[in-house]
Amino acid sequence: MEVNGNTFLITGAASGLGAATAERLVSAGGKVVLCDLSDAVRSHAEALGDSAVACSGDITSQEDMQAAVEAAVELSEGRGLAGVVHCAGVVSVAKLVNRDGTPADLDAYAKTIQINLVGTFNVMRLAAAAMAKNPPSDEGERGVIVNTASVAAFDGQVGQCAYSASKAGVAGMSLPAARELSRHGVRVMAIAPGVFETPMMAEIPDEAAAALAAAVPFPKRLGKPDEFARLAEQIITNTMLNGEVIRLDGGIRMQ
Ligand SMILES: NC(=O)c1ccc[n+]([C@@H]2O[C@H](COP(=O)([O-])OP(=O)(O)OC[C@H]3O[C@@H](n4cnc5c(N)ncnc54)[C@H](O)[C@@H]3O)[C@@H](O)[C@H]2O)c1
Repeated sequence: MEVNGNTFLITGAASGLGAATAERLVSAGGKVVLCDLSDAVRSHAEALGDSAVACSGDITSQEDMQAAVEAAVELSEGRGLAGVVHCAGVVSVAKLVNRDGTPADLDAYAKTIQINLVGTFNVMRLAAAAMAKNPPSDEGERGVIVNTASVAAFDGQVGQCAYSASKAGVAGMSLPAARELSRHGVRVMAIAPGVFETPMMAEIPDEAAAALAAAVPFPKRLGKPDEFARLAEQIITNTMLNGEVIRLDGGIRMQ
């Protein structure tokens, strides 16, 4: 799938990995709908010029995501929604049993699953239905979906039961979704980032961030959002990538 001249929906585009991906795809000649719960998405879209439009919305809402998909179809001027890079998500930390012996909050667990896992399925199903209507390329390709898992899907740490389960679900959906959507010429991939320098990670104390950077075999630093965006661009343009989860982590294995 070419980026140049095609239209992409980026969720979580007000911040971090999503914002960097929107920037990269526009600089490669693509058009983007920047979607986020946060209104900050408007200034990000304005900064990217005529190739970008903003769309406020919650990834767990059918109406909001349908509107985001339709905004992308409209922006495409007849070419259709070519791809989605789904970055919106939340991090959460909670122990199964607290220090005082009380069990973890069930609603908080369900909320993380609802946003990270159900939200991903919601974006994927609505985007795929729109992509299935696209005219196929010479090779029969109609679209590509790039989801965001996490290395926590594979090596989750203490307190990450909800986050790890949600991201393992995202990783687990890659292959069945790719298999099913192959008949429409739509590819599905996921990126599992290690630790990246984004506002999400800025919430952790400096010492903890330094320890995480030191735990990366090479390079000994946190990932930069544009390194995620470059992999998303490669997945979009490389038709052989399908049904897989790619770790992007400098070799880190969380302890
Ligand atoms: N930063 C990291 O180290 C890291 C590592 C592994 C995975 N990830 C994953 O990458 C993705 C992007 O993370 P980031 O670091 O850029 O975080 P971030 O907090 O900078 O950006 C996430 C964006 O998602 C938006 N969002 C949250 N809930 C939403 C909802 N219900 N509907 C619409 N938008 C919503 C937020 O408003 C925010 O702008 C997340 O799924 C995260 O779990 C990040």
